[in-house]
Amino acid sequence: MNYILKNARIIDPGRGIDAVGDIGIENGLVADPGKVKKPTVMDLAGKVLTPGFIDLHVHLRQPGNTMAETIASGTAAAAAGGFTSVVAMPNTSPAADTAGAIEYLRQTAARTGVVRVLPCGCMTKGYAGQEMAGIGSLKTAGVVALSDDGKCIQDHALMRHVVEYAKSFELPILDHCEDNCLAAGGVMHEGKWSVLLGMNGMNGAAEELMISRNIILARQIGWSIHMQHVSVKESVDLLRKARAEGIAVTGEATPHHLSLTDENIKKYDTNYKMNPPLRSEEDRQALIRGVADGTITAIATDHAPHTATAKLVEFDHAPFGIIGLETALGVTYTVLVDSGIMQLPEYVKRLTTGPAEILRMKGYDLSEGKAADITVFDPEAEYVIDPAKFKSKSRNTPFGGRKVKCRPLLTFVGGKLVYSFEG
Ligand code: DOR
Ligand code: ZN
Repeated sequence: MNYILKNARIIDPGRGIDAVGDIGIENGLVADPGKVKKPTVMDLAGKVLTPGFIDLHVHLRQPGNTMAETIASGTAAAAAGGFTSVVAMPNTSPAADTAGAIEYLRQTAARTGVVRVLPCGCMTKGYAGQEMAGIGSLKTAGVVALSDDGKCIQDHALMRHVVEYAKSFELPILDHCEDNCLAAGGVMHEGKWSVLLGMNGMNGAAEELMISRNIILARQIGWSIHMQHVSVKESVDLLRKARAEGIAVTGEATPHHLSLTDENIKKYDTNYKMNPPLRSEEDRQALIRGVADGTITAIATDHAPHTATAKLVEFDHAPFGIIGLETALGVTYTVLVDSGIMQLPEYVKRLTTGPAEILRMKGYDLSEGKAADITVFDPEAEYVIDPAKFKSKSRNTPFGGRKVKCRPLLTFVGGKLVYSFEG
């Protein structure tokens, strides 16, 4: 099907465009709207059209935990959230630490996925942090990045070797930054609320330490390291300073760390339990400043589905993680743009060119001839988040009932309409 998308506010950060206009889609590619043959015409006056959102951090759970999510359901959730590409974290079961596992992911995604699934391989075998994975064969199999997400390599010498290999294979590293000794036994942020609630805390220095380690390695080796789900103020400060010095480090922030704090845990709801944990209000404000000033160049969901049964236990025993694909736009637009903190074009970068640059993708824009990966959203739509409508197989969200602004309306992947908001 060919399309002409008319009268939208087109924000295309890669080309510095912010203007009302028309875009054509022909044979899956962005085309001159004046020349599209037999188009379906859509009037998008008042709506915003951007390159498709890229989520650097998604757990699709297949293989291993298809009760919680599958590639089919997770990519449907991504499409409903405005995401056209998702980086699939490798902490599946078995882990995505071999070429065979990546081949399985690619084939299953081609057969059942509705958005692009960008495979990420483990840095170490079984993401156990002991022995390097076969990084060369992972690269040949088509991974776009390496990560041990869920865990963090504690052995600095091993991490050094992984970064050196990643450099020679030109693969981005996406690191979950956590010192195990400092975080051991914790279920929430260590602070006033962990004391009041009588729960074991995770010290913010657990993240700060590993971010410092990674900045040192990135500087010494001359290869970029990306810090996943940055959550404490000190991490933002470290990143800001390192980037000013020209060290190739980047960071992402999640919608939940930008919008919630440890105080939210006071009802012991396990939908507020994730790793890294919700931090203090001061940390949240620092994170918002970091996203606004470009210290943090990507918003990533850390979409982490868990079944209701898994989450329906005491807070101490519940698994870490919440879903995020279908709430990311509403939650972050409300906190960052509707609040007046960020301008819309700058915010759009954090969902498009920001993550694309971290993945070393060049020219992620809507110039003619590019793949038509396009997101359309309504920045004026106000609504209450209703998890019953989610495409995800899981419902572990703290955002049900939350009033937000900005709704994904249309998602095109390679010119195919994979999601359309139906009310
Ligand atoms: O909360 C989290 N859940 N943090 C992680 O690092 C892993 C993720 C998961 O896989 O459930
Ligand atoms: Zn993680």
